[in-house]
Amino acid sequence: MITAITQERAQYSLQSALQRELKNKTAKVGVIGLGYVGLPTACHYASKGYKVTGFDVSVTKVESLKCGINYINDVDNDELTELINKKRFTATTDMKQLGNMHVLLICVPTPVNKLKEPDISYVRDVGKIVAEHVNEGTMVILESTTYPGTTEEYICTPLTEMGYVIGENLFVAYSPERIDPGNKKFNLSNTPKIVGGMTETCTDLACMFIGPTAHRVNGIRVAELSKIFENTFRWINMALVNEFTVLCNELEIDIWETINAASSKPYGFMKFTPGIGVGGHCIPVDPYYLLYKAKEHGHRTKMIELAGDINDGMVHYSYTRILELLAINDKLMKHSHIVVLGATYKSDIGDLRESPVIRLLERLQNKVQNLTVIEPYAKEIQINEQIIPVEKYDADILQKADLVVIGTPHNCFDWKSVHDNASLIFDSKNVMEENGLLSDKVAKL
Ligand SMILES: NC(=O)c1ccc[n+]([C@@H]2O[C@H](COP(=O)([O-])OP(=O)(O)OC[C@H]3O[C@@H](n4cnc5c(N)ncnc54)[C@H](O)[C@@H]3O)[C@@H](O)[C@H]2O)c1
Repeated sequence: MITAITQERAQYSLQSALQRELKNKTAKVGVIGLGYVGLPTACHYASKGYKVTGFDVSVTKVESLKCGINYINDVDNDELTELINKKRFTATTDMKQLGNMHVLLICVPTPVNKLKEPDISYVRDVGKIVAEHVNEGTMVILESTTYPGTTEEYICTPLTEMGYVIGENLFVAYSPERIDPGNKKFNLSNTPKIVGGMTETCTDLACMFIGPTAHRVNGIRVAELSKIFENTFRWINMALVNEFTVLCNELEIDIWETINAASSKPYGFMKFTPGIGVGGHCIPVDPYYLLYKAKEHGHRTKMIELAGDINDGMVHYSYTRILELLAINDKLMKHSHIVVLGATYKSDIGDLRESPVIRLLERLQNKVQNLTVIEPYAKEIQINEQIIPVEKYDADILQKADLVVIGTPHNCFDWKSVHDNASLIFDSKNVMEENGLLSDKVAKL
């Protein structure tokens, strides 16, 4: 009995100590993984008044940050410099310092391998490192996107093996990051953030830390699944519009006009646009985390598989359209010079991960006489395991091309100049029409 009361008092004092640190913003916050999610997250909490330490295994990233060099577009250079100068944000590779933190946010990658199976190794490794170094009274929040059950298996298990009792002397929650790189309207300050803890106390503490944007859910698995649900929703709707695109080509109906017509309905329809495929670290990856978990339970997620087939098939469809377009214009692919404008997975950012334009370039390489990539947001790109340089926009390059493919329509491109200097254009994003530049030399996706 005495032991139980003593334990309850100990728990209460650890909990109230953390609450005090959070209320006074004196809690030391550690962010593990300083990539597209981790660095903006670290800056967000540092600018809210917390003292933040960023942890990363990449010496290059940590050294850059120590010199005040920013490598993420969404992070403001001046803000980062100020946070570093005021010592509100520091970066390190020294994981022993994890033990000095009151709150730990885990933002490491959750990719898939070539077989589209989850690679959970980053979360697993961090779970072990955290368990080795963490101290009583700390709150650990996993932010990486993953399948239900991950937080329990890879974060809680190593901690309980070290003797911690979750919800009593250590607090664990899951809160998926919804960052949308390049989005100027929605950011960490105005986007609701789902929060689910291992216990009620864990949820309370995590909500308190996250603040007014916290959207509380009952249970950590709901929080884990909700993020995958959001991205699977996009994945499946993108597949639907891509399937309509292929069909519209057969039926000789304009898909873009069809989408705009359907979008005139003020309720019950959400606009998605087609493309060469679906890219990035999230949408083409996250549904496969759920597919894997479902398979473990003997269940097939048929819509995810089908959407994958359709979305992945868009590269082949685009390749075939390019082949046809050249043929109609009396050109042979093997004698052609093709220029591709934009190769990142979405406009106005430098992230090349899972970009369908790269997959299209892989199909085109070695089949054309000359392939040029114009990509203002990258220095080089990797095609078929070969690093190739990219060019800056130059009207002369377009003039010499047999075909210009609009891959990723960055806003910095001058579409009038593209139109006037190219002899033939394959427009995967309908930017020519949207800019009033539709003509005989433009073919839409
Ligand atoms: N990129 C996005 O737009 C986005 C949006 C929402 C959610 N997410 C999710 O957030 C998570 C992180 O994605 P990201 O795009 O920031 O990845 P990223 O690759 O840009 O960054 C991850 C960072 O983690 C570091 N890292 C790897 N192992 C580590 C370890 N053991 N210890 C410390 N650091 C380590 C890497 O060096 C890298 O800097 C993923 O689960 C992703 O699905 C990403």
